Amino acid sequence: MKKNYLHDVLIIGSGAAGLSLALRLPSDIHIAVIAKRNLNEGSTLYAQGGISAVLDKQDSVASHVADTLAAGAGLCDEKTVRLVVENGPKNIHWLLKEGVQFTQEDSAISSSGFHLTREGGHSHRRVIHAADSTGYSVETTLEQQARSRENITLYEHHIAIDLITSKQDNPTNRCTGAYILNLETEHVETFNARIVVLATGGASKVYLYTSNPDVATGDGIAMAWRAGCRIANMEFIQFHPTCLYHPKAKSFLITEALRGEGAYLKRPDGSRFMPDYDERTELAPRDIVAHAIDHEMKRLGIECVYLDITHKPAEFIQEHFPTVYSRCLKFGIDITREPIPVVPAAHYTCGGVITDHRAQTDINGLYAIGETAYTGLHGANRMASNSLLECLVFGQLACEDIQQVLAETPAPPPAAKWDESRVTDSDEEVVVSHNWEELRHFMWDYVGIVRSNKRLERAKRRVNLLRHEIRWYYDNFRVTNDLLELRNLVDVADLIIRSAQRRRESRGLHYTIDFPQTDDVTQKKPTILIPDNYSPRLSD
Ligand code: FAD
Ligand code: SIN
Repeated sequence: MKKNYLHDVLIIGSGAAGLSLALRLPSDIHIAVIAKRNLNEGSTLYAQGGISAVLDKQDSVASHVADTLAAGAGLCDEKTVRLVVENGPKNIHWLLKEGVQFTQEDSAISSSGFHLTREGGHSHRRVIHAADSTGYSVETTLEQQARSRENITLYEHHIAIDLITSKQDNPTNRCTGAYILNLETEHVETFNARIVVLATGGASKVYLYTSNPDVATGDGIAMAWRAGCRIANMEFIQFHPTCLYHPKAKSFLITEALRGEGAYLKRPDGSRFMPDYDERTELAPRDIVAHAIDHEMKRLGIECVYLDITHKPAEFIQEHFPTVYSRCLKFGIDITREPIPVVPAAHYTCGGVITDHRAQTDINGLYAIGETAYTGLHGANRMASNSLLECLVFGQLACEDIQQVLAETPAPPPAAKWDESRVTDSDEEVVVSHNWEELRHFMWDYVGIVRSNKRLERAKRRVNLLRHEIRWYYDNFRVTNDLLELRNLVDVADLIIRSAQRRRESRGLHYTIDFPQTDDVTQKKPTILIPDNYSPRLSD
């Protein structure tokens, strides 16, 4: 039977952004949290390095702001940066109150009482962490709390298909819910809500090689775009410099904190190369390190470079990096004795759904938080460990705003049920898997770390064909998880390519051989894509 639900707040996504918001909202608000896999599956669970915040007496808000602005290569929104950095310590204390256990340090050594590590772009030790599995500690703690709250109903193995909005020509256009496929019953259910929040994470699965888990298919960005929201800065896809290079290691990240604690990047002959590229050497921002690795690999015709921390005592490595140590050991690499083979991989989506400082999008009643949103914090390149911070701070800001907005928002009329009368079961699932492979390959080859006009044009031609084919498939066959994700990935790929084609310069994470220089005269602004069905909010 097809179900029809009504909640006060529908949160799509259960990572740090979605769960922190759900837990912060008062207990008299009825909340639905949707997750397309198990509740804890998402990028948050795999975060290693930690969360940046000004916690040490030697550090300052001004310094964290300055480092973030420098990493963002001229495109951060300074007001957003300041807002996020100022709210950092408060959010760490909120996590501590919820029960997250961070690695401690003698207060004679660290004024905060916690071990603070360093990562690229940070001029201070300011990354609080739980050894090298910070995300696991955060996500499982929030999960445990969410499971114990009576006002939060959790819908696992449910994938949102599209947002429900009132008519586009209605001046009070409003988001009133979402159509959601229950992956267990295979029925599409209608979720009505007074407020809808996208917390669906990033889109790095659009690339062949990525550090991200399978859920990162850009669903929130694609849904918001189709519903009429503007999307910004999609050309800025961050490639993490160091993912394990091993035929059997699917997307395993080697945390930047290794470099923060002194690890060197080396060529196969053992020589270091980062000093040739940047005076900050291994701790230069990620765009610079990933680019240097890519350059060395192409120049020398090698399949990987090496990350070497063997000069540190074995006990120190095992204590600070137990996850990396044991995972590498499983693949036969003892990181206390030998260097780690590493390659860059797609890691983070800096762009996303445009929001204001209340986390509101272009559509009334629709919010976006976490990696799916574009707030202006990251500019052209996100600084390490600023993402979890953004998830938490915008969760807090959304919570404050939603409480006010809810008071004036009536329950929506029930939306029409999903119409399946014209579709049949697909007899050619291979089309979906084939197109998925093709998309991820050409995005890697043509829209990766180094781009060119020709490569982008080639990718655009292919993505146009795929969009056409998938549209037909979507209109004629019953929806499945894979078809929905592919539909979203193709939309997101199109947004990335179009944004990259608009940026006629190289800046931060976007590097093109046709425009190798940064152009501060005409290009120092975000890339904003506007959908055909966009209409500005009346309240603005
Ligand atoms: P996620 O945690 O990715 O959660 C997304 C949620 O949305 C999931 O619940 C998923 O099921 C759900 N979802 C998606 N689409 C749908 C749909 N259609 N229907 C229903 N549900 C849906 N950042 C840092 O700041 N510090 C770090 O140390 C760090 N390390 C990282 C290490 C790795 C390996 C990775 C991959 C990322 C790391 N990052 C780090 C980045 C950071 O982890 C992510 O940006 C952040 O966790 C994103 O949180 P989120 O809540 O926005 O999304
Ligand atoms: C890492 O631990 O290297 C990832 C940190 C991040 O993505 O912010």
